Amino acid sequence: MCGIVGYTGPRQASRILVEGLKRLEYRGYDSAGIAVQADEPQTGAPLVVIKKKGKIAALRQEVPKDLPGHCGIGHTRWATHGGVSDVNAHPHTDNSGKLAVVHNGIIENYLSLKEMLEKEGAVFRSETDSEAIAHLIAYNYEGDLEAALKASLGHLKGTYGIACVHADEPGRIVGARNGSPLVLGVGDGEMLLASDVTAMLAHTKRVVYLNDGEVVSMLPHEFRVSDAEDRPIDPRIDHVAWELDAIEKEGFSCYMEKEIFEQPESIARALSGRLDGEYGCAKLGGLNLSKKELHAVERIRVIAAGTSWHAGLVGCHLFETVARIPAAAELASELRYRNPVVEPSSLYFAVSQSGETADTLYAMREIQRRGGTVLGICNVVGSTIPRESDGGVYVHSGPEIAVASTKAFTSQLAAFYLLALSFARMHDMPHHEGTRYLEQLKAVPGLVRDTLGQRDHVQAIAKRYSKAQDFLFLGRGLLYPIALEGALKLKEISYVHAEGYAAGEIKHGPIALVSPDTPSVFLVPNDHLREKTISNMKEIKARGGPVIAVAEQGDAEVMAIADEYIPIPAVDSRFQPFLMVVPLQLLAYFIALELARDVDQPRNLAKSVTVE
Ligand code: G6P
Repeated sequence: MCGIVGYTGPRQASRILVEGLKRLEYRGYDSAGIAVQADEPQTGAPLVVIKKKGKIAALRQEVPKDLPGHCGIGHTRWATHGGVSDVNAHPHTDNSGKLAVVHNGIIENYLSLKEMLEKEGAVFRSETDSEAIAHLIAYNYEGDLEAALKASLGHLKGTYGIACVHADEPGRIVGARNGSPLVLGVGDGEMLLASDVTAMLAHTKRVVYLNDGEVVSMLPHEFRVSDAEDRPIDPRIDHVAWELDAIEKEGFSCYMEKEIFEQPESIARALSGRLDGEYGCAKLGGLNLSKKELHAVERIRVIAAGTSWHAGLVGCHLFETVARIPAAAELASELRYRNPVVEPSSLYFAVSQSGETADTLYAMREIQRRGGTVLGICNVVGSTIPRESDGGVYVHSGPEIAVASTKAFTSQLAAFYLLALSFARMHDMPHHEGTRYLEQLKAVPGLVRDTLGQRDHVQAIAKRYSKAQDFLFLGRGLLYPIALEGALKLKEISYVHAEGYAAGEIKHGPIALVSPDTPSVFLVPNDHLREKTISNMKEIKARGGPVIAVAEQGDAEVMAIADEYIPIPAVDSRFQPFLMVVPLQLLAYFIALELARDVDQPRNLAKSVTVE
């Protein structure tokens, strides 16, 4: 949801900015721009500002290869206020052209600010809320950019990550954060600022995660963090564990393909060090709750958005069936505004790959405000949700770059399987069952690898069905959330309409959609729900609808009914979600390829949505 980058140091700024924006492109990709301080600062020469509608590649074409300048800021946009155009792209400048600002977030009072600033002579050129920030800082500017930014912050209502430069202050970048992430990168004689660490991984692994309300002022050799009242804050320098090659495509045609095929390793990472064979239990060190507190939990609630919500639905099913604790997953965007009842005996989980999703973050804060305990299940270390939660589990799937989430989903599942085991072992799961559960969980990465062997078969199916305009994805029990996830994947990256539904529910309405042109993807479990699911499949076949079935290998009955059959390895039904989702990810991926879609950066979406 918009990416910010800043660089100050001895190297050519424009190169580092454009390369950093490329890394952040998954956050938004409708337009981009940079502002670089010219190299004769003594003369107070204005900034060089280059902005372009379209992806970073379009901006790169516009930026002269030898553009001088060693300090600048850049931005890749996901439009909120104002259409997609060159002029609405960031950075935005003041009247003099000496001050430039990039912004991630939404300024809710920009209209009243604009009115006030126009009376003071500001000339607005774009339709964005962000431009008001540039004019406001210029209005408060008396030769000190940091002071001017601080004087302005109190007048901004809404969310922001801001970075700004002024032509009269060579080498200085000033940034502020409230609700949108900002990370400082501490290099060797150079500093970077960005929305997340992927933009700076090639240059430094020493980072400072800024908190809401903090302002940073940086020069190549020094930086200072303070609050809006100028009280200094002692920054903590963290070390980023991610390697640079984790954010490269490594021979795959796109990130989504790479991330799908990385799942055996990423699930193994999520489980690594957390399996306690001796006690048939899970070891989760970051929950920050005593055994007594965990034992006293009477109810579990999960809040999340998108794919993370689907993982939460699986998690809640496990909490109920494995641990016998009542559990429900709710969309974070719904919970926040419905005056939720927060019971002291309930434990909440906020699930988020990015750890920055505004809906989830604000719902979490609302629960905490009412005295609830919220644990995070997140991927991005140091992101806002894990930092503000009361404890939690990192899923360690490594950087996920493709907008459509795949490996983070299966790692979130892994975290839920571990949590469910922990709770179950506190209640009525005996030791031998815990050990068996662990053995089965340990086998999952290998079984996911075997399932990936269906690649070519799924590709062939995708070719045959890629012209379909509508799909149904149907599953029951633990596989119902997987059906929802399959439908979401297809919608996200191929723009084909898909409905995920509980298979038992189709007869109550959606069956009216069935026709020879509407394929139904059935997820057939190998437990007590198998027969029921097969009956639902027959209902579709009887009405002329083509059926693509994902089912355990060697299931002759399913093979006989379905038009297409995708076998998955035999596994206890409890663990089938891990395997069932893989062919659905591949199906969406190959259909999107058939339709020549931009798989990693689908239209209208952004990976990390930091607005409500
Ligand atoms: C966006 C993405 C989805 C993602 C959702 C939640 O909408 O496009 O793919 O599932 O946000 O993201 P989170 O980072 O909180 O898991």
